[in-house]
Amino acid sequence: MSEHAEALQDMPNRESLEAFWMPYTGNRYFKDNPLIVTSAQGCYLTTQEGNTVFDGLSGLWCCGMGHGRPEIIDAVSKGIQTLDFSPSFQVGNDLAFKVANKVKDLTPEGLDYVFFTNSGSDAADTALKMARAYWRQKGQGTKTRFIGRARGYHGVNYGGMSVGGIGANRKLYGQGIEADHLPHTCLPENRFSKGQPEQGVELADSLEDLVALHDASNIAAVIVEPMSGSGGVVIPPKGYLNKLRAICDKHNILLIFDEVITGFGRTGHAFGADAFGVTPDIMTLAKGLTNGCIPMGAVVSSSEIYQTFMQNGGSEFNTEFPHGYTYSAHPVACAAALAAMDVFEKQNMAQKVADLSPYFEQQIHQLKGLKHVVDIRNFGLAGAIEIDSFANEPTKRPFEIFRRCWEAGMFVRCGGNTVQLAPPFISTKEQIDELFNVLSDSIVATN
Ligand SMILES: Cc1ncc(COP(=O)(O)O)c(C=O)c1O
Repeated sequence: MSEHAEALQDMPNRESLEAFWMPYTGNRYFKDNPLIVTSAQGCYLTTQEGNTVFDGLSGLWCCGMGHGRPEIIDAVSKGIQTLDFSPSFQVGNDLAFKVANKVKDLTPEGLDYVFFTNSGSDAADTALKMARAYWRQKGQGTKTRFIGRARGYHGVNYGGMSVGGIGANRKLYGQGIEADHLPHTCLPENRFSKGQPEQGVELADSLEDLVALHDASNIAAVIVEPMSGSGGVVIPPKGYLNKLRAICDKHNILLIFDEVITGFGRTGHAFGADAFGVTPDIMTLAKGLTNGCIPMGAVVSSSEIYQTFMQNGGSEFNTEFPHGYTYSAHPVACAAALAAMDVFEKQNMAQKVADLSPYFEQQIHQLKGLKHVVDIRNFGLAGAIEIDSFANEPTKRPFEIFRRCWEAGMFVRCGGNTVQLAPPFISTKEQIDELFNVLSDSIVATN
């Protein structure tokens, strides 16, 4: 029997797929039409049928440096054999301090203290709790309200969901926490902008309106992704983030950057804060921290925030921030993070992105003029193609495009009314060409 025929024999039957209630998936369609990955290497996934698929989303925006990096695999293998688990409550593992120091070194000056979480969602909720507790410790306990942004994504926990601005992620879940939303920055006049749009800096002024409505004495923090990913790669207009920073400073409101996607190279800089020249008070990280191979997130805070907790912590043995996860700074995740950050630095990953992104930009904008293409947005190695919608079914066409691309050996993401791209940093120009060839064929072939 040929290898291919053997692989097909191993395909799971419908019943064996039933028990896994899949996240962010149409379970009924998937289980009738499964797409199953069994291995990955470099820029490619291998399916159960033995086909290779180019990973045009770097996993879920997390494996930018490519799959199966030997340095990370070695570190994780040695790590788990040396220390499979040790708590981070009242005891610390040796690698955790190294990871914290490295994150401190890599992140912009002024972000100096690192709190570990399990994921990006945990990082968002940790940042929100940190912000409220900070104001409480400063004697300003009325500062509890948060301001997020339409089309923002900050994970799925109740805090992150509440500040998030994607309707479909909120509508089933009832009462969240007190949050308002800035408008998103996708303006019709900015359609087909290359990189940062020229128009829209004034959208940051709506923060002044929210301050006028609630008063700064009631607002803890503003949380935004420097560049939204899951909401459809929404790039900040020129000057927009600087203006948000200035308004936050004026009113004594903390600024949180969710860098779960933009952290570790995606923008062509180490962090979105570097790319856009604005430093927040708190930054959240996950995904690229371990190159996606082990779950881990982090919240990086300013000294002012950390020292405020220390000064108000009571007796020295008291816990200053009663928060944390069993798996905060898990030693195996720490081993992965150390190795991943080492590769990130030594192989100049952010520079690789900066070098390839002009080509990516040129190629993605070649799709302008294809049927169904309403807008194209890009920054670094992130891009989105906005697709016109069937009435009441904005997600249908992007979903169809995603399935067609997969069949043709290309993984792209469908999110809302967009197709989203985040190819690996180590992609070649030929792979980028192939990505856009398959994508444009799939867009055109879609009803
Ligand atoms: C900006 C941002 N924040 C938070 C999250 C949530 O991260 P996780 O899925 O690891 O909980 C994501 C995930 O895509 C994200 O893009």
